[in-house]
Amino acid sequence: MAIRNIRTEEDEVLRKISREVDIINDKILTLLKDMADTMYDAQGIGLAAPQVGILKRIVVIDAGDGLIELINPKIVEESGEQIETEGCLSIPEVFGEVKRPAKVTVKALNRKGEEFTVEGTELLARALCHEVDHLNGILFKDKVIRYIDKDELKAGK
Ligand code: NI
Repeated sequence: MAIRNIRTEEDEVLRKISREVDIINDKILTLLKDMADTMYDAQGIGLAAPQVGILKRIVVIDAGDGLIELINPKIVEESGEQIETEGCLSIPEVFGEVKRPAKVTVKALNRKGEEFTVEGTELLARALCHEVDHLNGILFKDKVIRYIDKDELKAGK
């Protein structure tokens, strides 16, 4: 198990555009494993490679139904909208409401280089959008409608 250092928002790497993965080699497989370890260690539901300083289009998510590894993810369809509270491992202690699609369909490669499709609603839809944004240098703060303070968060909103 290898935990990587999570970059915080002051790090300009988070503002850069990540590159597509051409070849899934051992280095990429190690990165996927380390990213999952890092995400679980930090009790996050998603992590994008730029958050550990690697500008590659790789994301890991676990919205409660197991680990999803996405290489070169692309949102191919989105519909509806939802407004819910988000946070980010790179922006500790900050939470705010963000408008996202209610449902998204994402195409990506798995670790074997095979294309697969994942459909997400609710939390998974938000996580997919949030993490794909990271690959384009976008942070959830850029999209916050309203910040939520800790007391309000505790009260269950
Ligand atoms: Ni994030």
